Amino acid sequence: MRQLFFFQKQKNHLLGFVIAFLTALSAYGNTPDSAYIFSYTSGKSFDGLHFAWSVDQINWHPIGPEHSYMHSDYGSWGSQKRMVSPVLFPGVDGMWHCLWSLNETDGNFAHAASKDLLYWGRQSYPVVMADKNCLMPEVSYNKEKSEYTISWLSKNQTETTAWCTTTKDFKTFSATKNIPVAEHKNSRSTVLISGKPETGSINKVAWEMIEGLIKTQQLSVYKNQLWSETTKTDKDRFADLKTVEAKFSLDVTKSKKISNSLLGIFFEDINYAADGGLYAELVQNRDFEYNIADTKGRDKTWNSTKAWSLKGETASYSIDTINPIHPNNKHYAKLSIQQIGAAWTNEGFDGIAIKAGEKYDFSVFSRANTAKVGKLLVRLVGKNGELYGETTTPSITANWKKYNATLTAKTTVADARLEIIPQMTGAVDLDLISLFPQKTFKGHQNGLRADLAQPLADLKPKFMRFPGGCVSHGDGIANIYNWKNTIGPLEARKPMRNLWGYHQTVGLGYFEYFQFCEDAGAEPLPVIAAGVPCQNSSTGGAGQQCGIPMVEMDKYIQDILDLVEYANGDINTKWGKKRAEAGHPKPFNLKYIGIGNEDLITDIFEERFTMIFKAMKEKYPEITVIGTVGPNFEGTDYQEGWDIATKLKVPMVDEHYYQSPGWFIYHQDYYDKYDRSKPKVYLGEYAAHLPGRPNNLETALAEALYLTSVERNGDVVSMTSYAPLLAKDKHTQWNPNLIYFNNTEVRPTVGYEVQKLYGQNAGDEYIPFEINLSNNQESVKTRIALSVIRDSKSKDIIVKLVNLLPVAVNASVDLKNATLGNAVKTVLKGDPSDRNAKPVVATCSASELMNAELPAYSFTVYRIKTTVSNK
Ligand code: AHR
Repeated sequence: MRQLFFFQKQKNHLLGFVIAFLTALSAYGNTPDSAYIFSYTSGKSFDGLHFAWSVDQINWHPIGPEHSYMHSDYGSWGSQKRMVSPVLFPGVDGMWHCLWSLNETDGNFAHAASKDLLYWGRQSYPVVMADKNCLMPEVSYNKEKSEYTISWLSKNQTETTAWCTTTKDFKTFSATKNIPVAEHKNSRSTVLISGKPETGSINKVAWEMIEGLIKTQQLSVYKNQLWSETTKTDKDRFADLKTVEAKFSLDVTKSKKISNSLLGIFFEDINYAADGGLYAELVQNRDFEYNIADTKGRDKTWNSTKAWSLKGETASYSIDTINPIHPNNKHYAKLSIQQIGAAWTNEGFDGIAIKAGEKYDFSVFSRANTAKVGKLLVRLVGKNGELYGETTTPSITANWKKYNATLTAKTTVADARLEIIPQMTGAVDLDLISLFPQKTFKGHQNGLRADLAQPLADLKPKFMRFPGGCVSHGDGIANIYNWKNTIGPLEARKPMRNLWGYHQTVGLGYFEYFQFCEDAGAEPLPVIAAGVPCQNSSTGGAGQQCGIPMVEMDKYIQDILDLVEYANGDINTKWGKKRAEAGHPKPFNLKYIGIGNEDLITDIFEERFTMIFKAMKEKYPEITVIGTVGPNFEGTDYQEGWDIATKLKVPMVDEHYYQSPGWFIYHQDYYDKYDRSKPKVYLGEYAAHLPGRPNNLETALAEALYLTSVERNGDVVSMTSYAPLLAKDKHTQWNPNLIYFNNTEVRPTVGYEVQKLYGQNAGDEYIPFEINLSNNQESVKTRIALSVIRDSKSKDIIVKLVNLLPVAVNASVDLKNATLGNAVKTVLKGDPSDRNAKPVVATCSASELMNAELPAYSFTVYRIKTTVSNK
């Protein structure tokens, strides 16, 4: 593995562990040269490959017990990821090959190989049966033909059949052949593990291999114990701890260059972050394109009429698709008015919030179907009919046309409704019914909620990644986010199912993303699927087996190249012209593009990623392509992703890890060990997760602590973004998030305050330090952190100090060779469980740094005016 950090940094802990481990091993006395291992799975969902060992095949010793050395990554999230009837086979290539069945329905088995039974390579799920299941796979080797035969059973209610295929490399397989059931030989044995019969494979291995398995499991127990440390047990852990003295000494003339883009934001439409969130549209289901499939059938009311109702007896409505405004927007409402007075009503997203005196732009596409020419009366009303504002459109004519009108709200309310009352009888068609506040962020039409966009801009993000996350690579190929569907006139955009279980109008589309980046001073960082959907897909194929077919890859790659032209091309280019038509003739100056999102690294992925990467490199060598290395800080996807990126010389990779505060505390040297000659790192998704998933001072301080180490490694880590960003009350699929909101309130979290302090106090030079502590216990040392950086433009020195201990730390920060001016000090502190802690800002003398008290559980930032003395 790339990181040996754990072993190197945690010397004291490790020493204790090694002693304990050796003591345990010595209990075995005179160990044998070889013994038997039994490989099996318990069959529980998301359970992996377990081992037990025995010297006599009678007494079996489970390791763990039931420690999983490999998990199956096939199928959608959660219970779908199953390993059924694994079989382990020593290959002639010196590798251990494991085959397993995936479920009771699919016609594929899974394969993975390992040299040491510890590190397992890529998984593959070859489809060997078109319409039958594939159970109990078996493997044998034919020496004469130098090939493996894989056989399996297929069962339905009436019959059991057997089938086989052959392979030399577990990558390509011969055509599936029907065989007599008797030819499918069962190699599995059933043994008693802790008194329970388990079925699996028995193999003889060298004792060292078993030792390796035991050691890995014990290390994993030990690591989990460290990483699950929380402040709840600090009372015991630090029972006798007194104030700690910490002396830091630095020479400001000695610094190293670090990335000046370390803090950015990651925007994904999850938790209603876009529609009903940042996107300021107030009408829900404005296009009548909601579809029950958006929620995968879970919400039966989720259809074209969701959020709409007809008030009044004198009219009826239907949803029609005959001759729509645009083929991408098929559905529209047809109102048949017998007597004027009926109101077509929209409830908004949990109501429509309006502010007294503010103006709202109403628009609608309409045509008088069989209706006489007449106007639409548009009103904002309360639940009990209170009138909050009204206006009328111009007269509606026979063909589809857009009509605009403006309303002024008389009252401030959180839950108004929009009513449209046709002032004529007969049938009238309505579509794309929209209501926007005029006060959007920077006043753009089709713009963003100012009260939500502003706190994002306040983070001073150096970049913004969008549109996901999982939203980028989608739930199945058909759900891959296609940027071309999200630009141009709203009525021509192609709405889509959001894989988080709702609907995307894509009104907040690529143009609006680019525009927001420009407004916020952030570099745009679009993420495009690497030709494969999310590994957790559950539609159109399980997981990632369904990469975009090769015959379609050229077109897919062209779409990606076109994106660069859309962002940067001259207005005379095809796609540059579209940008200009949208109102932005100047290029957006795109510098980065992400290819892939924490994908399962398979051959299918690698083939497609490589094609895209090479095409991008050839056509746009100036663009920094960011690759992907899986959803974790270690493991197969991480390792294989890094290998691909290193081989292809991808400039940067996107790492993701959501971990416990303890993990962040004990991984401050994670990047210290990174090879500087390899691709740079974009830490694209991370957050500290506590049980219950709060965003509180404890998680925020763990992140602040870790970010000091990221700044220290700002020569290899180029960018970071916390995830996810936004979450709407009552519509949250994921916790914690950085900002919670509803229609009227925006509630930045404590984690947000940490991000803001980092974003607003960024620099481009790192000043190393020496540290001297009065207490050198590992648990104390790892909870005190410092980072000193300089912003070469302002020449300000920024000192960030984190104290995650329950006692104060008296810090003395000696900045040698600096002439210190005034300082601004910001302190964020409180009880670790505090979800509302706010930073307190004060001016102070820089000399305070020589004797700074860091309160228990606190994050302190000093920003100091300074001039470096000439040496
Ligand atoms: O941030 C939420 C999700 O976490 C992202 O969509 C995905 O990339 C990750 O699994």
